[in-house]
Amino acid sequence: MAINALPKQVKLVEVGPRDGLQNEKETISAEVKIALVDRLSQAGFVNIEAASFVSPKWVPQMATSTEVMAAIARKPGVLYSALVPNMKGFEAAVAARADEVVIFGSASEAFSQKNINCSIAESIERFREVAQAAKQHKLRLRGSVSCAFGCPYQGAVGADSVADVVQRLRDLGCDEIDIADTIGVGTARQVQQVFERVAREFPLAQLSGHFHDTYGQALANIYASLEVGVAIFHSSVAGLGGCPYAKGATGNVASEDVLYLLHGLGIATGIDLDAVVDAGQFISRHLGRKAVSRAGNAIAARRAAGA
Ligand code: HMG
Ligand code: MG
Repeated sequence: MAINALPKQVKLVEVGPRDGLQNEKETISAEVKIALVDRLSQAGFVNIEAASFVSPKWVPQMATSTEVMAAIARKPGVLYSALVPNMKGFEAAVAARADEVVIFGSASEAFSQKNINCSIAESIERFREVAQAAKQHKLRLRGSVSCAFGCPYQGAVGADSVADVVQRLRDLGCDEIDIADTIGVGTARQVQQVFERVAREFPLAQLSGHFHDTYGQALANIYASLEVGVAIFHSSVAGLGGCPYAKGATGNVASEDVLYLLHGLGIATGIDLDAVVDAGQFISRHLGRKAVSRAGNAIAARRAAGA
């Protein structure tokens, strides 16, 4: 039976400090966030989404982003990324010395309104100014497409709608574009079809898969994405997360689980799984609950048993 060759190397972008923590109700201190980011860079992640410069009225947990970015121990070679919805966010990200800014749009009109309070077309107009400023500052620019596999408000989302937003983000000059399953509803074949469609608009090598694990499909969807050549994925340590504007959506796929899968497939990541398990246990202790990572918890239990 012919099996497609999988990528030999994958870039894993750790989004726990941003996507993971943004939905936490209790305020987490900047010190804990800083320690988390530093543990993740020490574990070997070369791209960490560490901050979000959005309205603190909309996402209060991210209000410490400036403090976090000021105090992390920046490791050479690591890109520290920040979400920016508009020029106000962009200016804060530049002042905080973000290495990459992330503009975030949606393939669903309804989600665009709920998440950033404007239509898809209006969001692209806001992002145009941000994109130009990013180029002037020689900052890396990433674009994110939410609800690429389904929307909590409008239901089905077609691959052509995803491709349309990808085209617009490409035209703004994005260096990388994330195809996001905000509510974790996508399934393996659908994921392959969407990537095959958007790869007609933007180089596959610069597309990433951002999977939430609400329906337990994230690892299968990552494997399906690998089969069609995707080699960048997002994950959250301890499976942290959820989106404040996607009720019921759970966290991103856990970094520990993705690393266990990738390393088992012989795919290089440059990341030390044991150190990520430690980071997952650290943040879970602070949140007062067990990590949502099957591999992380299994490794921690094996250690506790002295095996
Ligand atoms: P708005 O209310 O339409 O904007 O919000 P506005 O321009 O009218 O401003 C309202 C107030 O917000 C003003 O303050 C502004 O100064 C302030 P006031 O005068 O009332 O005191 N403001 C800001 N403050 C700080 N930083 C800023 C900023 N901009 C305005 N950058 C806005 C529009 C986009 C700002 C708002 O809707 C917002 O902040 N939304 C954030 C949504 C968000 O962060 N969602 C979660 C991240 S996306 C996600 O998780 C999905 C992803 O993971 C992929 C996936 O899984 O799908 C990326
Ligand atoms: Mg997300």
